[in-house]
Amino acid sequence: MNTATSSRPSTDWDPRSWRDRVALQQPQWPDESVHEDVLGELSALPPLVFAGEARELTDSLAAVAAGEAFLLQAGDCAESFDTSADSIRDRLRVILQMAVVLTYYTGVPVVKVGRIAGQFAKPRSSDTETVDGVELPSFRGHIVNDVGFTADERIADPTRLLTAYHRAAATLNLLRAFTKGGFASLSRVHQWNREFVADSPAGQRYEALADEIDRAVQFMSACGITSDTLSDLRQVDFYTSHEALLLGYEEALTRQDSLTGEWYDCSAHMLWIGERTRQLDGAHVEFLRGVRNPLGCKVGPTATPDEVLGLCEALNPDRVPGRLTLVSRMGATKVVDGLPPLLAAVREAGHPVVWVCDPMHGNTFTADDGRKTRHFEDVLAEVSGFFAAHRFAGTHPGGVHLELTGDDVTECLGGGSEVLTEDLGSRYETMCDPRLNGSQSVDLAFRVAELLRNGTH
Ligand code: PEP
Ligand code: CO
Repeated sequence: MNTATSSRPSTDWDPRSWRDRVALQQPQWPDESVHEDVLGELSALPPLVFAGEARELTDSLAAVAAGEAFLLQAGDCAESFDTSADSIRDRLRVILQMAVVLTYYTGVPVVKVGRIAGQFAKPRSSDTETVDGVELPSFRGHIVNDVGFTADERIADPTRLLTAYHRAAATLNLLRAFTKGGFASLSRVHQWNREFVADSPAGQRYEALADEIDRAVQFMSACGITSDTLSDLRQVDFYTSHEALLLGYEEALTRQDSLTGEWYDCSAHMLWIGERTRQLDGAHVEFLRGVRNPLGCKVGPTATPDEVLGLCEALNPDRVPGRLTLVSRMGATKVVDGLPPLLAAVREAGHPVVWVCDPMHGNTFTADDGRKTRHFEDVLAEVSGFFAAHRFAGTHPGGVHLELTGDDVTECLGGGSEVLTEDLGSRYETMCDPRLNGSQSVDLAFRVAELLRNGTH
């Protein structure tokens, strides 16, 4: 593999061509030359993921586009440099638990993609934040500055890009060990779901559903299919993703695949473009159209059919199934009217996209105590509206994109073990958006399963 900056191919794209466009949401580095030195250092480091893995994920997502698999993309809003190994393990555990429930009820494979091992950069609606009359630069994620509200902590520090790379490498190493080393075996994950059903008030209403899965696992085992006899029950494929926001960092980790000669952004398997940076003539679309990783693009309530078709053409001109995932994030009240015209336009144009629902970012509000939160019922209502819109359009609802953690936080309201407004203060730990906690996440998987079972998709 060559480094991103070692050669400029004679196409109209190269890893640096985004630099001629307007790049929104980039930090103001105090000294640009230090930033460029760091990018030079990064471009000499090993890739975090391999082109072949990204191609495998594209193939799995092609199955999602065809309605033959379901995508579960989930993890932190903003990963912290201080995340412990236990917390990484618990995040993975929750995603695996949800995947088992969804696999059983959809009857198709669940493609598991974490917002993890690189989800360090955050777009902000304002460049500064004012508290008690003091104005400081906004927190832009641990890859840029620190969350504390002091002038020092808010200075953009380019050496954090190197820390982000090393944190991502360590996290990925742990994930690879957990997913291939027996931790993820089906019987074990199902046992955690049984514990959720037995131990939590939220879980008790799912006893019948969990019993069915129990019988399926027992049936397989009686037929001799166990994790001892079939390695597929012991290991899972788990992919990484993050918002490709800081284009210098992404460029520095872009490598030319020695097998195919194509460019891959080796910072993660899948990269997505956020709602604030999806301008057709902008630097983010320019950069990502040239790398061959599977891509996501957020689509919010202001997106027009023409804009969405423009994104499909720019990001997937060859109409490769699995290449492009559109992440609808409308809000529970807007999805019903906002999504159908977009689904129809993409369907008519014949673009083979994966449609997934992010029911988090359109449903954020400020609670009475001043904290940003989301209500579990709004999250569920948006998923339900998303399924309904697909039923109406005759298209496949491909999956869900969620912000969650395995930790027992109190950031989102509601769910089976009801988090109330007055509870928000007790364990509100997110550095950015409110996440579903472990119990709310598994609860949501069962609720989505119920929607699927009742034929409301
Ligand atoms: C996010 O996914 O954390 C995010 C900022 O989303 P969006 O771009 O949809 O607002
Ligand atoms: Co977020």
